Amino acid sequence: METQSTYNYKVVRQFAIMTVVWGIVGMLVGVLIAAQLIWPELNFETPWLTYGRLRPLHTNAVIFAFGGSALFATSYYAVQRTSHARLFSDGLAAFTFWGWQAIIVLAAITLPLGITTSKEYAELEWPIDLLITAVWVAYAVVFFGTILKRKVPHIYVANWFFGGFILTIALLHVVNSLEIPVSLWKSYSVYSGAQDAMVQWWYGHNAVGFFLTAGFLGMMYYFIPKQAGRPVYSYRLSVVHFWALIFTYMWAGPHHLHYTALPDWTQSLGMVFSLVLLAPSWGGMINGIMTLSGAWHKLRTDPILKFLVTSLSFYGMSTFEGPMMSIKTVNALSHYTDWTIGHVHSGALGWVAMVSIGSLYYLIPRLFGKTEMYSVGLITAHFWVSTIGVVLYIASMWIAGVMQGLMWRAVNADGTLTYSFAEAVKNMYPYYGIRLLGGVLFFSGMLIMAYNVWKTVSGAKAQDAAIPAPAGARA
Ligand code: HEM
Ligand code: HEM
Repeated sequence: METQSTYNYKVVRQFAIMTVVWGIVGMLVGVLIAAQLIWPELNFETPWLTYGRLRPLHTNAVIFAFGGSALFATSYYAVQRTSHARLFSDGLAAFTFWGWQAIIVLAAITLPLGITTSKEYAELEWPIDLLITAVWVAYAVVFFGTILKRKVPHIYVANWFFGGFILTIALLHVVNSLEIPVSLWKSYSVYSGAQDAMVQWWYGHNAVGFFLTAGFLGMMYYFIPKQAGRPVYSYRLSVVHFWALIFTYMWAGPHHLHYTALPDWTQSLGMVFSLVLLAPSWGGMINGIMTLSGAWHKLRTDPILKFLVTSLSFYGMSTFEGPMMSIKTVNALSHYTDWTIGHVHSGALGWVAMVSIGSLYYLIPRLFGKTEMYSVGLITAHFWVSTIGVVLYIASMWIAGVMQGLMWRAVNADGTLTYSFAEAVKNMYPYYGIRLLGGVLFFSGMLIMAYNVWKTVSGAKAQDAAIPAPAGARA
């Protein structure tokens, strides 16, 4: 029923279901490339199945298709519920859904064909970049338009994080994607040399900070208090957390370019801001975890809370590890190694995927007129396979990464290298095997989720909740 007296749940339902679908697709490609690192012949000598083409397909699918759909679903839900208002425009909201899906399909076609700008996390060529801009502007209009028509005077902190994420991604995307087209599917960046690298990693790091963090913190600030049945531990801390985080992230990009042609002072500045970033990150984590004060007992029986709280532990872990890796002398060891890959996935699987999964388990039954998922037991099973999966993934990459770094730098008394590069590669096999097992476990958790979601929604009636009457009602 699409009237002004109900919330627009249709677009939330569409994005929520597609989150599960794209999660499965993106992680399946992750499992395939993890296997290719052990058995390269799995590319079947087919150009579009080669590692170099599938790797960006994996990153785009998990970050923008899976993570992006989760962010659209949860931000559209939270902004309506906390504003007591229907989305600003149903038409524009529908455009963001279909536009975003079209972008994903175009990515899935062009990347395996080898069409790429070669800028990491910004690989899509200029026509797709233009479509991304159009969809993102529509997203901003729908989101901020809803905030403007809100019936509640206050703007809840989750919306600050979602809003900050939407504005920053617009800025990052436009500045980093400035390019000169030379044909329909080829363009060159307007920047060159060290400037190009700096702009790219200003973008890259803030893609982590805003796409993979700020939006998901919005999720944390809405869904943890909801599922725990407790107010946010400290509202004041959440506001300090917001401003400190968005101010600091902007400066940290050069830690991706240590020991490069970038001026040395820029690298040091990036390192210092990365170290400072530990404080707001941990402030946010503590705020989320302490929200459970008085509700700790619920963790024993509630697998959704288990997902949400475990995701925060991984968030804390990766935001401790990141500042350490940004120290130049540590980076001299970790850079180019699998340690970075371990760090990425403790953030991506442990934090981003787990907070999204927990939020979706809260959301999906409510979007289909149910009180809970078809099987709580299956959520618990999903929680354990994915937790074991992440631990196997990151622990194996830590060992592999440190071993690689040490083998590469080991020298004999006469100054020659102790190990050839191939020897270091050979020593990786057992760890690549353990990572593959971890990935398969995490992926099978997604299949359990898909079955549970299917059983919950099939036969259920899509239901849009009524917007409460203005007098003092709560979200
Ligand atoms: C079943 C789950 C997953 C598996 C098996 C997997 C596997 C992989 C593999 C094998 C690589 C390439 C590593 C290399 O080049 O040495 C990779 C890279 C990457 N993955 Fe995943 N992945 C999974 C889930 C995810 C998720 C959910 C996200 C994000 C939300 C993610 C984000 C990334 C990123 C950003 C990179 C590039 C890292 C870099 O360039 O440093 N992955 N993944
Ligand atoms: C305080 C927070 C963080 C800091 C200071 C930080 C710092 C770093 C550093 C120093 C690197 C290695 C750069 C290199 O040697 O090339 C890195 C790589 C990376 N981090 Fe973080 N990190 C933080 C949090 C996170 C989180 C929460 C995520 C994911 C959700 C994440 C995702 C990534 C990715 C995807 C890369 C690989 C980029 C690439 O080379 O492709 N980081 N980070």
